[in-house]
Amino acid sequence: MKKLISPLDLTTQEIDEILSLADRIMENPTAYAHKCDGKILATLFFEPSTRTRLSFESAMLSLGGKVLGFSSASSSSASKGESVADTVRTVECYADIIAMRHPKEGAAAVAAANVECPLINAGDGGHQHPTQTLTDLLTIRRLKGHLDNLTIGFCGDLKFGRTVHSLIRAMMRYEGIRFILVSPKELQIPDYIRDDLTAGGFDFQEVERLEDAIGEMDILYMTRVQRERFFNEEDYIRLRDSYILDTEKMELAKKDMIVLHPLPRVNEISVEVDKDPRACYFKQARCGRFVRMALIMKMLEVE
Ligand code: NCD
Repeated sequence: MKKLISPLDLTTQEIDEILSLADRIMENPTAYAHKCDGKILATLFFEPSTRTRLSFESAMLSLGGKVLGFSSASSSSASKGESVADTVRTVECYADIIAMRHPKEGAAAVAAANVECPLINAGDGGHQHPTQTLTDLLTIRRLKGHLDNLTIGFCGDLKFGRTVHSLIRAMMRYEGIRFILVSPKELQIPDYIRDDLTAGGFDFQEVERLEDAIGEMDILYMTRVQRERFFNEEDYIRLRDSYILDTEKMELAKKDMIVLHPLPRVNEISVEVDKDPRACYFKQARCGRFVRMALIMKMLEVE
């Protein structure tokens, strides 16, 4: 596998192998400290990031490799008008593997079509975010013990949230998954995902109130309302605080439900919830480093 644009570029068997490798790395990270000696990862981030970029860099450094890149479009030649295709063709001369984030949907696919080296989509606009999905799957498997027979609730900005789109797509391949989609009408999942859920005969429901559905969930995946993807500020202000998970709502949830969030959080999870043992979003962020170590090893074929 040379290019990772959507989680569906990986078979469930490949996902399983990556998650198992990540588990082994977490048990004994020093055994992997030289797996990528002499290799270079380029992180090309045309959009802001904390976890994704730094966990990629941490992953490569933890494997003994080196990293280079940029963290904003303004510090790259994109600001001079260079195309994505030309940027990645150039970077391929300096690195062995590329992780790229871009505000435009489809930018990762364009980049992938223009390079020979392995390329990973680290988020393309409101489209897909496959490495967040690997992080989410690893977290779910470690905390729940399995990836099937789960009721997973997604809450917040399901329209623009690429992490939601990728995780729904990935979870659709496991048995016995029920989806509860909680959002205001304006921020419901895109039609192409609803069509897939309907065509596949999935058990899914769309609701507006979190209180009505939280009690049924094994996993609650909270998301941020994505200010940068709105066309006007008024709509954002009206919708940004649609959901705030607080201790009162947590009382309605199962005792073993887990709360995930790709982060960054703004207001949608009250900080008081952090103390609840069911709040697992920082454990999830930690998983991101190890799953990316496993992915880099697979893509560079250095196992
Ligand atoms: C998410 C993203 O960038 O899509 N964050 C992340 O990668 N961990 C979610 C977000 O920005 O809200």
